[in-house]
Amino acid sequence: MAQVLIIDDDPVILEVIGEILKTHGYDVVAAPDGGAGIRELERNYYDLVLTDLVMPDVDGMQVLDHVVTRTPKTTCIVLTGHGTIKSSVEAIKKGAFDYITKPITADELLVVIEKALKFRNLEEENFRLKKELQQTYGYDNLIGTSDAIKKIYDLIEKVADTDGTVLISGASGTGKELIARAIHYNSSRSDRPLVVINCGAIPEELLESELFGHEKGAFTGAYKSRIGRFEMANGGSIFLDEIGEMSPALQVKLLRVLQEKKFERVGGTKTIHVDVRIIAATNKNLTTALNKGKFREDLYYRLNVIPIRVPPLKQRRSDIPLLIDFFMKRFQKGREMKITGFSPDAMDAMLKYDWPGNVRELENVIKRLTILCDDQVVAGEDLPEHIPQKGRSIQPIEEDFLEDGVTLHKAVEDYEKSLILGALERSDWVKTKAAKLLNINRTTLVEKIKKQNLVETGSTSSIR
Ligand SMILES: Nc1ncnc2c1ncn2[C@@H]1O[C@H](COP(=O)(O)OP(=O)(O)OP(=O)(O)O)[C@@H](O)[C@H]1O
Ligand SMILES: [Mg+2]
Repeated sequence: MAQVLIIDDDPVILEVIGEILKTHGYDVVAAPDGGAGIRELERNYYDLVLTDLVMPDVDGMQVLDHVVTRTPKTTCIVLTGHGTIKSSVEAIKKGAFDYITKPITADELLVVIEKALKFRNLEEENFRLKKELQQTYGYDNLIGTSDAIKKIYDLIEKVADTDGTVLISGASGTGKELIARAIHYNSSRSDRPLVVINCGAIPEELLESELFGHEKGAFTGAYKSRIGRFEMANGGSIFLDEIGEMSPALQVKLLRVLQEKKFERVGGTKTIHVDVRIIAATNKNLTTALNKGKFREDLYYRLNVIPIRVPPLKQRRSDIPLLIDFFMKRFQKGREMKITGFSPDAMDAMLKYDWPGNVRELENVIKRLTILCDDQVVAGEDLPEHIPQKGRSIQPIEEDFLEDGVTLHKAVEDYEKSLILGALERSDWVKTKAAKLLNINRTTLVEKIKKQNLVETGSTSSIR
């Protein structure tokens, strides 16, 4: 029920409006003058204030001032006589939601009040959603208590609200994008867009127009002009993922944006200025690329103003139990917990494993277990085969295969299958990536997947 305060020095108006609102379900308190109204606002919270404008001593404008500065969540509507329309316009400029002219009809009153409250609810909802978004990408979702991750939290806090360019480096799946999001959503740019672009995933010829936009006719197929990601990110941040993959020609253009904050669209002559914070990431060692001449030194130093190095998971094993718990809860949220914990053996194996795919691999293993594991407590044998553990290794196949009639061919095939599955899991079933890890070409991998009848357990796309 909405709480409404009415302030008017005319007792008849207080009475009439009070009655109308009460019969329509509002909780109403009346104050006979501006001073009493302000005292009431200091004592109790109100969703809405209806105040007369002209009152002796403390008038409606002063009430409005109080609301705007002290209780900004309260919506204010002013009541005005014919002679004071001008001041009611003034009141709206100051922050009143609307005004109602006396004499007041019940219908008009109710319509204006309903509109005001509806607007207020929308604003609140908007605020709540924004907060929720911030929580999703704030530190709440960056799990870990190891010294290494704590250092990263400190860095995020220090740099978030500056405009400094950040270069995040770390192996695949270590959480670089999550960190970039945390930086953006904890900065004063958080209500402006964070535009993400993976420089490694877009063909070189398209990347330039993707980043900087193009004019109509700039190249075959450019039927319309289009703005690029830098323009989309104006006022906010841009996350340039896999920056190490950028071609030398584009590196020059990017350098100019960093230095001068301006560029031209492909095929365009107009110079476009943008205010964008740049966060870049790389899973390659950029200094190696630097030495090989593949990455420009001047660009590197411009990007590397604030370096954040994310260590691989095996260098912060103390975070593993927390991450397991976090993902277990996340994947089973809103339903009965199918798995609730790990046996000592299973936990031991999880802690000792090297996690070449880092947090992403761990996340995928937990996801798979929440789907496939039949026991509440995950045992060693429930873990994927590529995670080594006591009493189970690849070698026993060698001992067994003669007596059990397991052929070498079958043993090799099993081993191959577990390697392929491991690589696929590490790369989120992106076959090109998995093939790279296995050092085979993609076509060979696809053939093997078909032959071995391998299928992905549960889609991982929704969790990225
Ligand atoms: N500290 C962490 N806490 C919780 N989840 C994490 C953490 N680090 C990574 N993750 C999760 O692991 C997955 C991979 O993280 P992210 O995409 O940020 O990695 P990345 O370093 O950008 O990887 P790539 O180089 O492959 O793009 C995501 O689903 C992310 O939510
Ligand atoms: Mg990434």
